[in-house]
Amino acid sequence: MTPPLKRVLLFDSGVGGLSVFDAIVEAGLPVEIDYVADAAWLPYGEKPDDALRARVPALIAALERAEAPDLVVLACNTASTIALAETRAAIAVPVVGVVPPIKPAAALTRTGVIGVLATPATIRRPYTDALIREFAADVHVIRVGDAGLVAAAEAKLSGAGAPSAAIADAVAALFGAPRGDALDVVALACTHFPLLREELAAAAPRPVAWLESGAAIARRVAALLGLASVDGAPTPRLALSTALAPGFQRACRMRGFTHVAELEFDSAPRGAGSSRSVPPDA
Ligand code: DGL
Repeated sequence: MTPPLKRVLLFDSGVGGLSVFDAIVEAGLPVEIDYVADAAWLPYGEKPDDALRARVPALIAALERAEAPDLVVLACNTASTIALAETRAAIAVPVVGVVPPIKPAAALTRTGVIGVLATPATIRRPYTDALIREFAADVHVIRVGDAGLVAAAEAKLSGAGAPSAAIADAVAALFGAPRGDALDVVALACTHFPLLREELAAAAPRPVAWLESGAAIARRVAALLGLASVDGAPTPRLALSTALAPGFQRACRMRGFTHVAELEFDSAPRGAGSSRSVPPDA
């Protein structure tokens, strides 16, 4: 008898974690996937650190109770760089965090100039400082905390198209910075941003490497779950959001999620709980 598939819960503030879903598809991992967005709180990158440190572990703990995943991916740099330890402490199953790919960017650069493109919160985090100190001490790092690209990625996946002004602003901030003329690698340090890779590359003044974390996360998931075979395909199970918008539904349905529902979550101390309703297919 075939053993049941392991269940992976991918969590992000919005559609950004779908870039990690796409990497899991690409890697051929035979797992069941639940996708959860906390869109009621989108964007995380403009929320106070303390508020995220309290909300994210409580929400994930409620999801662990309700959906019984075998592993959780905190598919959000902004949440991982502030609440990874707290989330691990809050649940029993392994938590894989997604953090800025500064180490591979520093290893790849030939010019010694890399960019880190993140949310305004991630870019100023001590966690990010520590990654730069540890892995990029001998390269010049152009840090860009961008407030517009998350909304641009949400717009693109909703079918409205990514606003070109937001893309142009991010590209100008990277390449127009001191030493931007030598930039050759950009670490995409928000899971929303790989969803805009084509637009960013097209707007850039010249080709550079745009690095994302998805493939490394997929390898880590396979290793932690002991998946020997990686020539399968994930099975989408549930897509939930704390604020269900048509764009989210569209993006998830395009990836094969047939059950898309609103997630009710109450973070009051009387005991967080999530309830979901899974309506019949619209
Ligand atoms: N996708 C999230 C990240 O990786 C951030 C999006 C947001 O600001 O809500 O950082």
